[in-house]
Amino acid sequence: MGVFASTDDPVSTGHEQVVFCQDKQSGLKAIIGIYSTALGPALGGTRFYPYASEDDALADVLDLSRGMAYKNALAGLDLGGGKAVIWGDPEQIKSEALLRAYGRFVESLGGRYYTACDVGTYVADMDVVARETRYVTGRSVEHGGAGDSSILTAWGVFQGMRAAAEHVWGTPSLRGRRVGVAGLGKVGKYLTGHLLEDGAEVVATDVNPKALAWVRSNHPQVTLVDDASALVAADIDVYAPCALGGALNDDTVPALRAKVVTGAANNQLAHPGIEKLLADRGILYTPDYVVNAGGVIQVADEIEGFNFDRAKLRATRIYDTTREILHLADAEGVPPAVAADRLAERRMADVGRLRAIHLR
Ligand SMILES: NC(=O)c1ccc[n+]([C@@H]2O[C@H](COP(=O)([O-])OP(=O)(O)OC[C@H]3O[C@@H](n4cnc5c(N)ncnc54)[C@H](O)[C@@H]3O)[C@@H](O)[C@H]2O)c1
Repeated sequence: MGVFASTDDPVSTGHEQVVFCQDKQSGLKAIIGIYSTALGPALGGTRFYPYASEDDALADVLDLSRGMAYKNALAGLDLGGGKAVIWGDPEQIKSEALLRAYGRFVESLGGRYYTACDVGTYVADMDVVARETRYVTGRSVEHGGAGDSSILTAWGVFQGMRAAAEHVWGTPSLRGRRVGVAGLGKVGKYLTGHLLEDGAEVVATDVNPKALAWVRSNHPQVTLVDDASALVAADIDVYAPCALGGALNDDTVPALRAKVVTGAANNQLAHPGIEKLLADRGILYTPDYVVNAGGVIQVADEIEGFNFDRAKLRATRIYDTTREILHLADAEGVPPAVAADRLAERRMADVGRLRAIHLR
């Protein structure tokens, strides 16, 4: 989905509802953004972060909640898009009272918004939030939660990569391809395992020596390079950004030797226009929010009562969705990022419209 300017306000960005929540005693200052409930209750995590200003917190929640609407729509979920931010340093102010106060504000929305974990919040926090609200997912296994979402995130990224391989090389497999994985964290490690099993050669990098040591002992056949710039410039077929956002920018795209980019990281495109730069260089980019939806598919499944096999099946469909996007992009002569946005908007409009059929 397109990137907002930070000065955008909720009215001009088309958000349904933005709620400011405050509890002075516990120090809670939160903003809940609901972009769309066209497909169902809005789902998206809670980011707990020491923003420099309220404007920064607002800009982030507007951007993230809109992104969730597109992600959930293309993940095939009956869920709209929302997100929340808690403004403050979690190390300093996170407490039972603050989380429970937040839970009461989530409850007050009556199910229009479901929350979950994001940067700065963990499953244990969601268990606390759940003492005040029914509308929370991403909980601990002891409380019926799904546990580590990176398992299905990596599986979904692998499915998206298979679809891209089929589009470019005619076969939905990475066998014999050189894949560069930037970031060997929770998702990158699982992705590396899938790639090796499929017969790919993996070249990888990470800034964390522990992550490198893990790969050396578990997958000694992986070639390690110094840093992400070395990986970008390496002779690879596929580039998989699995670390931080902004991996595709004005420096990396011109240097990239890969024909395909498919990775887990959120917000890979550093700014609008990068998708066009990739297309002009003949590099196929599978939109990040499409291929990394396995995690949200997993937490969404908890709302029904978590079933790993069902959630995995849904994450496997990321292969079909990616294919559809790539075909639409070709048919409409636009980059895949634009085609994905169009498909998500179409689903929100086509299915959301059905609410107009009156039911008693
Ligand atoms: N975990 C999920 O379920 C999930 C779901 C959707 C999207 N994502 C996104 O996928 C990405 C990876 O998530 P994760 O859960 O594996 O995170 P993680 O923190 O476990 O792993 C990230 C890894 O990247 C490494 N890294 C950081 N900067 C780097 C750099 N400059 N060069 C190379 N390596 C670097 C870190 O050392 C770490 O090992 C993130 O952008 C995250 O937002 C994750």
